[in-house]
Amino acid sequence: MQPLTSHPTGGLTGTICVPGDKSISHRALILGALAVGETEIGGLLEGEDVLRTAAAMQALGAEVVRRDDGAWLVHGVGVGGLHEPDSVLDMGNSGTAARLLTGVLATHGLTAFMTGDASLVKRPMARVTGPLVRMGAQFVTRDGGRLPMAVIGTRSPVPIRYTLPVASAQVKSAVLLAGLNTPGVSTVIEPHATRDHSENMLRYFGADIAVDDAEDGGQAISIVGEPELTGRPVVVPGDISSAAFPMVAALIRPDSDVTLTGVGINPRRTGLIDTLIEMGGRIELLNRRDEAGEPMADIRVQGSELRGVDVPPQRAPSMIDEYPVLAVAAACAEGTTRMLGVGELRVKESDRLAMTAAGLDACGITVEADADSLAVHGAGPNADVPEGGATVATELDHRIAMSFLVLGMAARSPVTIDDAQPIETSFPEFAALMNTLGASMGDAEAVA
Ligand code: S3P
Repeated sequence: MQPLTSHPTGGLTGTICVPGDKSISHRALILGALAVGETEIGGLLEGEDVLRTAAAMQALGAEVVRRDDGAWLVHGVGVGGLHEPDSVLDMGNSGTAARLLTGVLATHGLTAFMTGDASLVKRPMARVTGPLVRMGAQFVTRDGGRLPMAVIGTRSPVPIRYTLPVASAQVKSAVLLAGLNTPGVSTVIEPHATRDHSENMLRYFGADIAVDDAEDGGQAISIVGEPELTGRPVVVPGDISSAAFPMVAALIRPDSDVTLTGVGINPRRTGLIDTLIEMGGRIELLNRRDEAGEPMADIRVQGSELRGVDVPPQRAPSMIDEYPVLAVAAACAEGTTRMLGVGELRVKESDRLAMTAAGLDACGITVEADADSLAVHGAGPNADVPEGGATVATELDHRIAMSFLVLGMAARSPVTIDDAQPIETSFPEFAALMNTLGASMGDAEAVA
């Protein structure tokens, strides 16, 4: 365990570049490994989650190397060309790596064993193995459909038409990736739109993807199996889910003026920006451009007086990873913020609904949590800042860790997190970068 303390600070200023998008980084490595020829990836997130995917693709037969200038090169084996791995695939903390790879393996005629860390082995895998069994794969999992598991991929996959029972880009992507090595057309119907990085990148690498309106609402995404994918250069935009932390930090510290350059602003990911603007946040998107099928911009954020809002359930898929840090913004706002339809938070790296509520409560903020909603009663922008002065449990959850370090910046007394190690999964340089903006995060002090 590596405790870390965040001390109250004044306004933040400066321009920084946040690390590469985690979702896009995983997909670039996976599709690069399934393409013919070379894929050069610039701006890949070198966090532990993505490094697990890189190692797994190598164990499955692709060549993955980091060049001295920081670019990553993947020499793919072609669709259907992966080899049986010699050893267990350890996906660490990463649900995205585990679930996307399960989709890929399901339609390769090989047997593989997969595991993960103490957080990942608690997370549900049945949501991906369910549809993949219908395509012909077999799985042996622990009780409750959990890792470690054996994947017995099928040599004769059958295409399916599958309606997602939960709004999950990971499940959608697992089925589309399984559909890559399946003859015929595989279709996923998503009643609620989720991030579409898989669709964008599959199309960019040459797959035939169609998106149509589904009969009962939502969208039907179809992939024609057995294409030849061609290696392509990929530039990974900055991760909006990482940018979320300096964004909220700048909003809740008066006199802040921070610019985050080159951040991905795919509309399926920007629910937090919409919500913070509704709360009165001063946020501008500058210099909009496109890279490898993904929109990006520079984001300027200034200190603001925030007020509570209701966040509708339909917005959840577009900001699913941002609720813990939104709750921190809400704690510093005037009035109540109600986050509705957020039950999926309970099956993330930790039970994020419970962990967010417990951490805020420990810092003196009144919260109400139930099965799928969270209400935060803000301390208000003026005299009443959050109390802070607590040590918050993080349970192997990087986003809980970073959220409470942000809260410490605006609290009356410092906030300590019990373990900063999980931050390595998505934002290894977080504390150093925040400190360049004027934050004060460092070795833990004994706080109440
Ligand atoms: C992700 C999808 C989301 C998100 C996760 C990354 C992806 O998970 O929480 O951090 O890259 O597809 P779900 O599909 O479980 O909603």
